[in-house]
Amino acid sequence: MSDARKYVDQWLRDAHAMEKQAESILEGQVSRIKNYPELAERMQAHLEETISQRKRLEACIERRGISTSGVKDVSAKFTAMMQNLGGVFAGDEVVKGVLASYAFEAMEIASYRILAEAAMAEGDFETAQLCKEICQEEEAMADWLKEHMPRITTAFLGHAASENADAKR
Ligand SMILES: [Fe+2]
Repeated sequence: MSDARKYVDQWLRDAHAMEKQAESILEGQVSRIKNYPELAERMQAHLEETISQRKRLEACIERRGISTSGVKDVSAKFTAMMQNLGGVFAGDEVVKGVLASYAFEAMEIASYRILAEAAMAEGDFETAQLCKEICQEEEAMADWLKEHMPRITTAFLGHAASENADAKR
């Protein structure tokens, strides 16, 4: 097996684990956001996109005949790092959630850019195309977060005076 092929296999498994993690983080965030309808709506849309990304990766992994036996181990590595991103933050969780989501998107964008290039080097253009496609979806999400960050911050500061923790979410 060529080195490129070996690494593409490994990185596809990593990407799959990353999307599974994204799915549970987004589910948690969507369920807790209460006063930011625009953010909740965009997060919900990205959750659906993320589920579709995971499925497209699964089809790709199956097409390449990659053994999925290692998937659990890789997933565990990501879990520890990402749990903090999905957790409940004291008081300012909406703002921290946006910050963490933006950081997560940056990691996803980098992962798919690297994967697309490696798949091209290997000569698997179908995988390269898939990774470029997913990368564009992550970039759109990152752009949305970047654009809406100031507005969400302002809204948060408006809610921050409230003693009720729910009002800040
Ligand atoms: Fe994703």
